[in-house]
Amino acid sequence: RKPLIPYEEIGAEKLSELIDLFYSKVAVHPDLYPIFPDDLTETARKQKQFMTQYLGGPNLFSEEHGHPMMKARHMPFPITPTRAEAWLSCMAEAMDEVELDENIRDFFFRRLVLTAKHMVNKEDDQ
Ligand code: HEM
Repeated sequence: RKPLIPYEEIGAEKLSELIDLFYSKVAVHPDLYPIFPDDLTETARKQKQFMTQYLGGPNLFSEEHGHPMMKARHMPFPITPTRAEAWLSCMAEAMDEVELDENIRDFFFRRLVLTAKHMVNKEDDQ
């Protein structure tokens, strides 16, 4: 089948649902909440913009914030391998709960694994 634009296959509404659910998990994950702001409203808003363009939709993030430079934007935060795993586990749970189409889920999650690994900027504490 002809490959389509993942953003269009998922749809803005489902993407928004996914990201809200994801941050509800981040907010209570013991490895993650200490490095995130208490109020995740603005973080979720930016993530929706970013994921939209990451998945082939309009460049909403860049239009408001400039070049994504995601690794650089994460440098102020200690992103350890453990935190990358935790981030991905919150995302995997959220993806299961919103019931993304299996092909989209596989494609999207595999890309996020690579991006999350790329974001690591610190070793785990001993
Ligand atoms: C922002 C952590 C992976 C996209 C942030 C912030 C933290 C964080 C602490 C700042 C939140 C704020 O101040 O509002 C992490 C951790 C990751 C991770 C622990 C584990 C690997 C990712 C990945 C993506 C991503 C894989 C994208 C695919 C974003 C975006 C923002 C953000 C778009 C907002 C940037 C901005 O303020 O302009 N992340 N992140 N993050 N993260 Fe991550």
